[in-house]
Amino acid sequence: MSSRREGDTLCFFINGKKVTEKHADPETMLLSFLREKLRLTGTKSGCGGGGCGACTVMVSRYQPATKTINHFSANACLLPLCQLHGAAITTVEGIGSTKTQIHPVQERIAKAHGSQCGFCTPGMVMAMYTLLRNKPQPNMDDITEALAGNLCRCTGYRPIVDGCRTFCQETNCCKVSGNGNCCLDGGNQTDETEREPPQLFDKDKFLPLDPTQELIFPPELILMAEKGTPQTLTFDGERIRWVSPVSLEELVQLKTENPKAPLVVGNTNIGPDIKFKGVFHPLIISPTRVLELFEVSHTPTGVWVGAGCTLAELRSLLEKLVPQFPEEKTELFRALIQQLGNLGSVQIRNVASLGGQVISAYPNSDLNPVLAAGRCKVSVISNGGRREVPLGQDFFASFCKTILKPEEIIVSVFIPFTRKGEFVRVFRQAPRKEMSFATVTSGMRVFFSEGSRVVQDVSIYYGGMGATTLSASKTCAAIATRPWDDETLSRAYDVLLDELVLHPSAPGGKVEFRRSLSLSFLFKFNLEVLQELREMNVIKEELPEKIQPLPRDIQPGLQEFQHVSKGQSEQDPVGRPIMHRSAISQATGEAVYCDDMPHTDGELFLSLVTSARAHAKIIGLDVSEALRLPGVVDVITAEDIPGVKVRESFGYQEELLAQSEVSCVGQIVCAVVADTREHAKRGAYAVKISYEDLPDPVFTIEEAVEKSSFYEPRRKLERGNVTEAFKTVDHIYEGQIFCNLQINVSDYRKLYLWISCSLPVCPSLFVIVSSGEVKLGGQEHFYMETQSMLVVPVGEETEFSVYVSTQWPSLMQETVAETLGIPSNRVTCHVKRLGGAFGGKVTKTAILAGITSVAAWKTNHAVRCVLERGEDMLITGARHPVLGKYKVGFMKDGRIVAADFQCYTNAGNAVDESLLVAEKIVLHVDNAYNIPNLRGSGAACRTNLPSNTAFRGFGVPQCLLVVESMINDVAMVLGRPADQIREINMYKGPSVTHYKFEFSPENMLRCWEECKVKSEYSARRRAADQFNQQNRWKKRGMSIIPIKYGIAFSESFLNQAAALVHIYKDGSVLVTHGGTEMGQGIHTKMQQVASRELHIPPSKIYISETSTNTVPNTCPSAASFGTDANGRAVQNACQTLYQRLKPIREKKPKGSWESWVNDAFFEKISLSATGFYRGPDLYMDWEKMEGQPYSYFTFGACCSEVELDCLTGDYRTVRTDIVVDIGRSVNPSVDIGQIEGAFMQGLGLYTLEELKFSPSGVLYTRGPSQYKIPAVCDVPLQFNVSLLSDTHNPRAIYSSKGIGEPVLFLGSSVFFAIKDAAAAARSESGLVGPFTLNSPATPEKACMACASPFTQKIPASKPGSFKPWALNI
Ligand SMILES: Cc1cc2nc3c(=O)[nH]c(=O)nc-3n(C[C@H](O)[C@H](O)[C@H](O)COP(=O)(O)OP(=O)(O)OC[C@H]3O[C@@H](n4cnc5c(N)ncnc54)[C@H](O)[C@@H]3O)c2cc1C
Ligand code: FES
Ligand code: FES
Repeated sequence: MSSRREGDTLCFFINGKKVTEKHADPETMLLSFLREKLRLTGTKSGCGGGGCGACTVMVSRYQPATKTINHFSANACLLPLCQLHGAAITTVEGIGSTKTQIHPVQERIAKAHGSQCGFCTPGMVMAMYTLLRNKPQPNMDDITEALAGNLCRCTGYRPIVDGCRTFCQETNCCKVSGNGNCCLDGGNQTDETEREPPQLFDKDKFLPLDPTQELIFPPELILMAEKGTPQTLTFDGERIRWVSPVSLEELVQLKTENPKAPLVVGNTNIGPDIKFKGVFHPLIISPTRVLELFEVSHTPTGVWVGAGCTLAELRSLLEKLVPQFPEEKTELFRALIQQLGNLGSVQIRNVASLGGQVISAYPNSDLNPVLAAGRCKVSVISNGGRREVPLGQDFFASFCKTILKPEEIIVSVFIPFTRKGEFVRVFRQAPRKEMSFATVTSGMRVFFSEGSRVVQDVSIYYGGMGATTLSASKTCAAIATRPWDDETLSRAYDVLLDELVLHPSAPGGKVEFRRSLSLSFLFKFNLEVLQELREMNVIKEELPEKIQPLPRDIQPGLQEFQHVSKGQSEQDPVGRPIMHRSAISQATGEAVYCDDMPHTDGELFLSLVTSARAHAKIIGLDVSEALRLPGVVDVITAEDIPGVKVRESFGYQEELLAQSEVSCVGQIVCAVVADTREHAKRGAYAVKISYEDLPDPVFTIEEAVEKSSFYEPRRKLERGNVTEAFKTVDHIYEGQIFCNLQINVSDYRKLYLWISCSLPVCPSLFVIVSSGEVKLGGQEHFYMETQSMLVVPVGEETEFSVYVSTQWPSLMQETVAETLGIPSNRVTCHVKRLGGAFGGKVTKTAILAGITSVAAWKTNHAVRCVLERGEDMLITGARHPVLGKYKVGFMKDGRIVAADFQCYTNAGNAVDESLLVAEKIVLHVDNAYNIPNLRGSGAACRTNLPSNTAFRGFGVPQCLLVVESMINDVAMVLGRPADQIREINMYKGPSVTHYKFEFSPENMLRCWEECKVKSEYSARRRAADQFNQQNRWKKRGMSIIPIKYGIAFSESFLNQAAALVHIYKDGSVLVTHGGTEMGQGIHTKMQQVASRELHIPPSKIYISETSTNTVPNTCPSAASFGTDANGRAVQNACQTLYQRLKPIREKKPKGSWESWVNDAFFEKISLSATGFYRGPDLYMDWEKMEGQPYSYFTFGACCSEVELDCLTGDYRTVRTDIVVDIGRSVNPSVDIGQIEGAFMQGLGLYTLEELKFSPSGVLYTRGPSQYKIPAVCDVPLQFNVSLLSDTHNPRAIYSSKGIGEPVLFLGSSVFFAIKDAAAAARSESGLVGPFTLNSPATPEKACMACASPFTQKIPASKPGSFKPWALNI
């Protein structure tokens, strides 16, 4: 290593200001430097691992060779500070602010309603901003690509895309108008009121984009790059040294002396290893200033590309080269371009290097199979000299290992030209279309003798089929020298099947799917090669269909809502699409979230220590090593809790900190408090817990049911006489159908007839075909802002201020008070805003607040606790997985006469709200259907997994999937369309639920009918059927689904709210209420309410925060009841005040608001009022099985259509139409935002998001790399939302309705459309009738359900003969 030279100074610019850092720590990433050192908190942390884009910034570098400035987006969480020498960084604060001028990107995303909770917004803004810096007039492909690496959990992306779309030159018009209207003008509907249809935003008023106004690149950095003689830089941190040499010789010498030291280029492999796996490297070498690693040189046979080049640079180089050469020479280049477009996100590709990708040797690397198949090679250097190593089958030695020696450095990668008659293709299937490592990925190359179909040479490589990139060499041998025809290929499939065998317990699971993909890819390659041979006139035969890629262009959607009534005053904002009141500050990064609050003097940080065992006694807790570490102040255990050590609910106790026993992996045992986050984290790693395992942990629902492991009480509701009714029906569908035979079409028919006759199940058979049951996995909340809090001891009498991201401030106050053994009046809880919550920031937050307050009390310092994404996912639980079983009795005409549902939830190791979730499930088993004999029962299973909790919909989305699966099965047994069975059985006329609650389903039926019309259901259904007839390997599926969703809390006491409204002497108004702002726009709506009631513009009204010292005893912001309850409370307070001003107003009718307020003050009239809302007295009598648990129902219907690739399970939602009855919307833009966001969250639940646990109960999925929430690529290509017109609701404010939760279930329309498409595919294989599709319908499940010849070739592993990689919880 070169001798240590103290004082190397890191020099770079941030937002035009020079930063010189004398003590740059190699462990510091740009994100923490920005947030903690510079207090630029606009850049957010959502995952810390490059997977969410919340931390996106723009990096600009001057290239002396070309004298150009390169701007690119990057994830600040993976950018080592030391790597930034000479760079200019632009953050969201650098492009615009409310103090100066906002940037058009900030304005358009905000005004297009693309910011709800706002936590993702700065990242979105910066991703788009960087695109515009490089391409001021992008097209839609550019936009969707730029945003592909940015996750948003609230909006559903449509409004963000629409805001960004306004920068496009092309109009992307629907071109379908029959009446001269364009879809961009808001639709082609006729307007009865003869007014233009209302718009969500007016794009004509947007600021123009003026590229000349952007920050210039600092001239000093240009000078530095041009003039300076580069010198080796060394930075020494607390534990790590960073060396950045400038010559290849020096680099070689460093690597020779330190062969284990990594070369960090993009840090996208090393960074996550250090952060998440605790890997430690005392020395890091940065080769980014060694020019040889970035050189590109051309030869007659191909191109050498420097190993340091980023994947983005490689792609643009290849894109430039392709047009310069004949097509036949660039087959490999084009295949690489295609694969590069799918790898990671723009932010990742902008920093990740080619050399890093090759040498990281990921099992599912995307480039390595193509490079290997394409006969690429690497040039490596070490002090032994240079050598060239082919990227052949021996190169990738084992998991993340190559045959290169540790001291060898890849200097460049050779990418050869292809020859005439040589074809290269790539195939890839991933859990999500974009920004996702592949499940299986492949590169295939074949070379033919000229004019012949005889194969001269072939190479096939796979990723995702083993520990590293694998060559299918035996398969290649079976193809080589043979003609490319059916016979050769059929043999090749068989050889491949034998050659690439995955053990049933293989890491990553999905074993049968992965094996079938390997075959499908070869089949697809076959089709493409045949096409090429045909085009070259080598073969003449008719070819099978060419499989076209799935459609991907997002079209502008329609958002339809009603005008406010003609007489409404211009000033009255109620009913108008007002932008979220904080959207602009969210888009500029000025909005303050909990962890953005400045550090207080002496503040400490808390990190949690959690159990590594699912069911064990704690026999030792050794904190001594942790306490010896630098910065560690204390370790908090249960013994330190001065007050109540447990949370009690429904008679069950949950310990804040485990004392003697743990009952799940992830249970909190103790907490380390230290001076910094890093020190606290290191302290937490150093705590040692010893365990003695307890027997028989219970993980799955099936295990819990078998062992009767339930939380009591279990709930049941019944109407009619279900048992008797089953005796009267034509068909009964239930139970399990087993089969161990290869059955052909007609046998299946017989089998289903057999079921419908209710014959007993044959016990000797073992493959489940369909089972009268459906299973749904859980769902992680994945709020973009993780659990965050700051507890500050204040005053002298054990007084605490708690700043926390929670939906229920009063619960935090109570928990902190109880835990510390002090009265509630010593604890004030403040909530400014939440970066998303979705039910996950209620009970779990209370436990964390309790623990953090003990640390603050014990140390007498402010203590901050902000969970990392992985901790949050591990500790705080999720939506309940559900197993739903059903038996249904129905008539030949489709009438369902009897149904019996049993739903079991996996509640985890603590009861939490699981009993209420089970109750809500039972209350919704009727959904939209009037089934005269209906029984529903619900049970919460106690297991040794982390305790699950509330999540948007509170069990209803799970329950309704079971109900609708039952309807689908009925339709399939009868061979009729599912929508007909739905219609036949819907509630009609004055109706009564199964718990004797009277309601009118009229608006539900209106939504259903309108949805059918607006979606052009019948015509599109016919078109889909026709498409399916014409396509063997792609199918279209459609479904239309209704919903009836109960609003308000069934626990009556929660239906109350209070508000406090102050009018100040200058006329400004401060409103406080009990609701918390978590993106759902409640503060915006409350501002609208106050504005209407006080007859003043919203600009005079401010809402600062929710706090327990202004509005006490609040109820949670949940159950879609926030606006109903708090709206009435604010209304009440404002009406009181307006009434008080009446004498003054009457005295001075022409006076201004300000003058009335001023006069009132002098007349000693109180200008402050509380408001209160006593909500409906709801109840549920479970003994009598009757009640009124809801205030009213929100109704809706949704139609979705998908296109499914049956060979891979990949699908695209081509269109979704939603019609919802939400009464008279208080704010259509906010409500449409809730609808779209909830729909997308539902789409994630039902088709994408999978929590995976190891067989010993350890959560595998702890971040966006493993757990996929919907991204931009999942937005329906056409997404139309209509609010039902002319409806009213006397039970809520201004005739509105609650909307936060109901629409989530409508995401299941995509699930059922996939099932419909799979059914069409199955029929090609001769399979008809019901089949089980569990949720989520991931590509794996969809593909396996299609039962293609390739999936059918895979032998199923015998259950019980192996330990699966993951539990089926
Ligand atoms: C969020 C995310 C998503 C991703 N998605 C995908 C994906 O979809 N598909 C996919 O294939 N990959 C994906 N990746 C992986 C990514 O492509 C690789 O991590 C990246 O290419 C590695 O390059 P790097 O420069 O960042 O490596 P670094 O992390 O900087 O270094 C990685 C390793 O490479 C070694 N190294 C680097 N350069 C050289 C060299 N010239 N000679 C010798 N050794 C060298 C280092 O010593 C180190 O051990 C993803 C990564 C992230 C973080
Ligand atoms: S925080 Fe950086 S990508 Fe998620
Ligand atoms: S607005 Fe995107 S995460 Fe909340």
